[in-house]
Amino acid sequence: MPRKKARYRAALEVTTEWLRGPERPLDLPEGVPATIEVGIGSGHWLVARAKAEPHRLFVGLELKEERAYQATRDAIAAGVSNMRFMVGEASRLDPCIPAARFDELAILFPDPWPKKTDSKRRLAWAPRLRGFGRWLRPGAIGLFRTDNRRLWEYALKTVPAAGYVITSSTDDAPRGDVVTRYESRFRAEGIPIHEIRFTWPGSDAAAPLVPVADEDVRWSARVLPTKP
Ligand SMILES: C[S@@+](CC[C@H](N)C(=O)[O-])C[C@H]1O[C@@H](n2cnc3c(N)ncnc32)[C@H](O)[C@@H]1O
Repeated sequence: MPRKKARYRAALEVTTEWLRGPERPLDLPEGVPATIEVGIGSGHWLVARAKAEPHRLFVGLELKEERAYQATRDAIAAGVSNMRFMVGEASRLDPCIPAARFDELAILFPDPWPKKTDSKRRLAWAPRLRGFGRWLRPGAIGLFRTDNRRLWEYALKTVPAAGYVITSSTDDAPRGDVVTRYESRFRAEGIPIHEIRFTWPGSDAAAPLVPVADEDVRWSARVLPTKP
């Protein structure tokens, strides 16, 4: 194992209350509303929400150990105890996540995986989104944000194809009270934020998964300096 990774893993293991994985299934107290975010990065948004909403539980999934470590450190520094972090790939962590437990799902600024051949890696790939539905209670709300217009257009197809119901969408979302690191960076560059809000009707009520063609989502929204 590379030295840096070993250091993060050792640090994460010390804070075992936070590190959850297949060997440590999530055990959330019943009767408490809960939010799950996939791909938290350094956890800025989730930690801020957990601090602002102490009576809600927040679960963050993150592939990269060093980012989960950063999130853990920030959560401890913020003094919040209503959070759990799970380190690993979302579909691999799936078996240790309870069914129909969450009433909010967030997917914020996911990696776009721009090449058509990488569609299956996208968090917005329809079968993957459908899989996230297993964790949600009927009526749960979802939030998807991205700076990538083509990924947003792709998700406008995959979200309903996965059985969710879109409640609103915009290609220029207003800034919320809490923003992720990526969102603040994009906003500072003047890049519009695209958003989709949706609900999960429940596994029994959701329509069957509809295939969506793989497509390229290459996009550059960098604002070019205006010519004098
Ligand atoms: C572009 S970053 C955005 C981070 C954060 N949401 C933000 O807006 O600042 C995407 C994050 O998702 C994580 N990620 C990507 N695919 C994942 C997967 N399948 N399971 C868990 N995490 C994933 C990446 O490691 C990365 O930290």
